[in-house]
Amino acid sequence: MKVTVTVLETRDIIRQWRKEGLTIGFVPTMGFLHEGHASLIKKCREENDKVVVSVFINPTQFGENEDLEAYPRDFNRDTALCEKMGADLIFHPEAEEMYQNPCTVVNITTLSDNLCGKTRPTHFKGVCTVVSKLFNIITPDNAYFGQKDAQQLAIIKKMVKDLNFHIRIVGCPIIREEDGLAKSSRNTYLNETERKAALCLSKAVKKGQEIIFMGCDSEMVLEQMREIIEKESLAKIDYISMVDVLTMQPVDHVEKPVVVAMAVYIGKTRLIDNFIYGEE
Ligand code: PAF
Repeated sequence: MKVTVTVLETRDIIRQWRKEGLTIGFVPTMGFLHEGHASLIKKCREENDKVVVSVFINPTQFGENEDLEAYPRDFNRDTALCEKMGADLIFHPEAEEMYQNPCTVVNITTLSDNLCGKTRPTHFKGVCTVVSKLFNIITPDNAYFGQKDAQQLAIIKKMVKDLNFHIRIVGCPIIREEDGLAKSSRNTYLNETERKAALCLSKAVKKGQEIIFMGCDSEMVLEQMREIIEKESLAKIDYISMVDVLTMQPVDHVEKPVVVAMAVYIGKTRLIDNFIYGEE
C-alpha cells in the first residue's frame, strides 16, 4: 500500500492504473477510522481493481466554533486499518496542499437548507468543495459514503448529477456498536455517563422503525422518538425530522422513501443518527 501527500504524485499513480485499464474505487474520510469506514473500504475492495482512501481533515467544512482542532487523529492506526482492508493507496495531504488561496467553492442549494445544514450553514459548502476536488484528483469510477450522514449522501448524489461527474455514488449501511450506538469518530468525545446517555438516539431509531411499519404518519413517529430522547437529561435535540430521501425536504405522509434523521447533543457532543423507510 502506498501513501501520497501531494496531488502530483497521486495523479501519477492514478494515470498508471488508468493506462493498465484498471477500475478505481474511492473512500473519502477524515481519518480516525472505525468499523464504519472499514465497511466502506470492504465494499470498495469488492467492487474495484484499485482502492483509494483519502485521510484529510477538511478545515472548510468546520464552522468557526466547531471541533476542527479537537477532531481526533491517529494516522498510524488509520494506515494499519487501510492496509488490513486491502486498500492500495492512502491520499493524506496537508491543508496547504489542498487549498492555496482558493477563490472557487462548490455550493449546493435547497438540499443543504435544513437538518444539519441549518445548524451548520457553511458545512456542506466545505464538503461539496473538498469532495469535488478529491473527485478531480482521484477520478474514481465508484465512490463510497456512509448512510449515517444521510444528508451528505443525498447532497453528493445530487452534486454528482448536477456537475456531470462520471462517478457512481454508493451509499453503505450504518454500522453500530453492539448496544446500538452508531459508529462515529466523535463517539470518542463521550465520557462514560454520556456514552450511556447517547443510547437514546438508537433507541429512538428503533422506536421510529417500529411505529412507521405500523403505518403511523410523520408527526406521530417524530413525537414518539422525541419523547424517548427528551427523557434523557443529558440530551438536547438539535433536530429530528422526516424528509424525502432524495430532496431532503420534510414530508407529512410516508408515500415515497423517507429518511427519519436526527442530530442530538449529548453534553457538548453533537451526534447524528437516522433510518430509511420505503427504499428497496
Ligand atoms: O464524511 C466525511 O468524513 C467527510 O465529510 C468527507 C466526505 C470525507 C469530506 O471531508
